[in-house]
Amino acid sequence: MKRILLIVGGGIAAYKACEFVRLCRKAGISVKCVLTEGAQHFVTPMTLAALSENQVYTTLWDLKDETEMGHIQLSREADLVVVAPATADLLAKMAAGIADDLATTLLLATDKPVMAAPAMNVRMWQHPATRRNVAQLRSDGVTIIEPDEGPMACGEYGPGRLPEPAALLDHVQTCFGVNQMLSGRHILVTAGPTHEPIDPVRYIANRSSGKQGFAIAAALAQLGARVTLVSGPVTAPTPSGVTRVDVETAREMANAVAAALPADAAIMVAAVGDWHVEAAEQKLKKGEAPSTLQLSENPDILALLSASPHRPRLVVGFAAETEKVVEHATAKRLLKGADWIVANDVSGDVMGGADNTVHLVTADGVEDWEKMPKDRVARRLAERIAHAL
Ligand code: CTP
Repeated sequence: MKRILLIVGGGIAAYKACEFVRLCRKAGISVKCVLTEGAQHFVTPMTLAALSENQVYTTLWDLKDETEMGHIQLSREADLVVVAPATADLLAKMAAGIADDLATTLLLATDKPVMAAPAMNVRMWQHPATRRNVAQLRSDGVTIIEPDEGPMACGEYGPGRLPEPAALLDHVQTCFGVNQMLSGRHILVTAGPTHEPIDPVRYIANRSSGKQGFAIAAALAQLGARVTLVSGPVTAPTPSGVTRVDVETAREMANAVAAALPADAAIMVAAVGDWHVEAAEQKLKKGEAPSTLQLSENPDILALLSASPHRPRLVVGFAAETEKVVEHATAKRLLKGADWIVANDVSGDVMGGADNTVHLVTADGVEDWEKMPKDRVARRLAERIAHAL
């Protein structure tokens, strides 16, 4: 049985630690919990003791028998140390090597891998001090689980939320090397918009944020795949374990996709611009506005890949639709020669938002998936891909 030592920091997200412990137990993982003083204001030792079926530790002085060096033992008997939620304060102490309570002493004493899931207000997460501490921890070998983006308990919006307990469990399982269903596979993912220049400073683009494609690349990598992510211009951070190739235009994306072959599967999530214009070499001056823009069609990367002699075994396209979603997606599957089309209803605030409503269109028919966060769509799709390969 795998064992984790869970260090719960003092933030509102501490309540998610309870469900995380329950899911770990259900997955057959044994859990010992340590609560910081702050954490005890949000969850009680009693709750976690009941859920983990283990003693919960709160101070250095609980460890009765210091002749046996209880804190050293506790920090080393687990296979993995998980810090969730990791507050800004805990991250700072970890980065600086401060050991002024049980949690930080264990983190300094452990010789086991450490995974930290930060959760805090968006400004605190984006503060240069936190950025520095996170960079330091990464270079010290700590696995940092990126926080989710969304509405926060403090009323602000942005990255800083603790991922859902099921997602945390996925990270733990990956660390334990289970769920490596895609190891040895190479999967190509396209994501983001394309920019089609009009002149050196202006371009035609679309509202794609790249979030869904990046989440899919991350989920595939978590299942052990070697992932090449060909991305249009987006600000999203590169998921860990993913090789990213940055491009701007659709034609560059087509070339990057061809260069990344062979692949076992290709998941074309990018919102590829359909047209480009003959870009002016110099910046157009205000008075020189062309009265028309001559649009020429871009290569259809998905259709070209499907027809290519190097076609991956599984080709999955996305279809961004605002009406007759399934009907258009079904037609696109046949027209573009894809095995599956993930039909994406973009009529609301999907582009740039955190949630997605999709329908999976295959040769066997249509599956309607309920509205869910983009990273859950990604995990579900990655598992389907793993089963299909
Ligand atoms: N796609 C592509 N190359 C293009 C256009 C689209 O590879 N030049 C891919 C997208 O990555 C996606 C699928 O084709 O997987 C469908 O994209 P979508 O924008 O929905 O379809 P279009 O072909 O652009 O059709 P329309 O805009 O008419 O709906």
